[in-house]
Amino acid sequence: MAVSVPLIEKAVRCEPPLYRPFFRAGIAVVLTLGAAWGALLLVRIAWAGSFTAIGLQEVNAHGHAQIFGWVGLFVMGFAYYGLPRLKQVELAHPSLARLSLWLMGGGLVVRSVCQAAVVAWAGFGLPAVLASVAEIAAIGILVWVVLATLRNAEAGLEFLDYYVLAALGWFLVQAIYGTVYFTATLLAPGRDELLGLVATWQGPLREIQIHGFAMLMILGVSQRVLPPLYGLRRPSAARSLSALVGINGALVGVVTGLLLMRLAGHAWAGLWYLSVLAMAAATVALVRRWGLFGPVERSNRSLKYVRAAYAWLFISLAMLVALPLYQFGLLPWLAPESEAASIGFSHAYYGAIRHTVTVGYVSLMIMGVAARMVPEFQDIRQESLGRLWTPFLLVNTGCAIRVVSQTWTDFAAPAFAVTGVSGLLELTGLAVWGVHLWRLMSRPKAAISPSIDERDAARHCEASRCSVLSV
Ligand code: HEM
Repeated sequence: MAVSVPLIEKAVRCEPPLYRPFFRAGIAVVLTLGAAWGALLLVRIAWAGSFTAIGLQEVNAHGHAQIFGWVGLFVMGFAYYGLPRLKQVELAHPSLARLSLWLMGGGLVVRSVCQAAVVAWAGFGLPAVLASVAEIAAIGILVWVVLATLRNAEAGLEFLDYYVLAALGWFLVQAIYGTVYFTATLLAPGRDELLGLVATWQGPLREIQIHGFAMLMILGVSQRVLPPLYGLRRPSAARSLSALVGINGALVGVVTGLLLMRLAGHAWAGLWYLSVLAMAAATVALVRRWGLFGPVERSNRSLKYVRAAYAWLFISLAMLVALPLYQFGLLPWLAPESEAASIGFSHAYYGAIRHTVTVGYVSLMIMGVAARMVPEFQDIRQESLGRLWTPFLLVNTGCAIRVVSQTWTDFAAPAFAVTGVSGLLELTGLAVWGVHLWRLMSRPKAAISPSIDERDAARHCEASRCSVLSV
């Protein structure tokens, strides 16, 4: 039977596509202030043969753009569009959600650009701090809208929602913490005071951003969407919640350990390390039960991204666990003359761990999940699309070269030249993927052919759980 016009309209007029401006803004950020700027920084590092060849505020401006713009905007787009579909409820306060795009997008551009420019003129500090306040407001709105949406859901709070809430809590905490910390760096009276601030407060901030916000959010979304997508084992509530408690507790231990190590004595490194072990154990125990690396019931182009992402997560956790062995075993043995051995801290190794998790895990997950979800949101058949091998290979190769060669710079200076190339590979991969996704989002949403029968259209809406809302 040919589908009736009202039904086509109902099927096509699923929720307003609020994810689009957020995803587009995220792609724009990663291809400019994020990966493009990062690649440029890396080329300068390679040219100078030193990771300290670039300024603190410049590096941190890149990091800021990536956390708030690349990760943050994608999380917001998914939370505003995907979460209501999953919970089968309308998004609460949609106009506030739209406002948060402008606060976040505008805020992060002003903050990142002014932060990098502050070295040239201190007057850029004030707009940068004000822009950070706009970002805090945007995240506050996100938390408010998500809470209100979850409250309206018939199913109420389910155990996986606690991952989302914990991640959003850390997102808000890091935004406030980051603003105070950034302001303090602007007010530091001299270089020694500035270095003291960085050594004490920057490490904990990164932990909250990467393991508190990004990793917990991805673990929550993974447990929700990967079982139906690939036919993986569903986690039990008890196991999932105990992992959540374990990871959060370990994160508090990691942050406290790092701070007390600087403020109260080096013995607190013990707390940091035990917490790292606990975080790694809780994460691995949770993920390995999903059966992600075994045979799966269903596959599609996103599976290779998800598998590679979790492989990178395990590598980053293993590198973190091996940090004392590297710093106090390998370095003094193989490179006793190196700066890293003499000062007792390897910037290269620590930076390599961070890159493993931010690019290998977080970015590949964003790429894979978006490559699976956007066609669904747009009513485009998955089978009609390319497999996205080129960006997959470029980003993975770039990440592998970066992690190995950055670590290798502790042992041999020529490794810097190799490191410089890696950023360009990653940038190209992200650009190929970004253009593909952008074009998918630009297709008109009427991809459901009028020739399909009425049952198919109804089933389509049911499967994608879209509520029939006016556009
Ligand atoms: C895609 C290609 C990327 C390139 C070429 C790149 C490049 C760089 C470079 C050269 C640095 C300074 C060197 C170092 O500390 O190791 C850096 C630092 C940083 N990057 Fe990236 N990056 C990329 C992606 C990302 C992503 C996706 C994120 C976050 C999701 C991110 C977050 C950060 C952060 C937070 C820092 C500052 C680290 C600190 O010193 O505390 N980067 N990046």
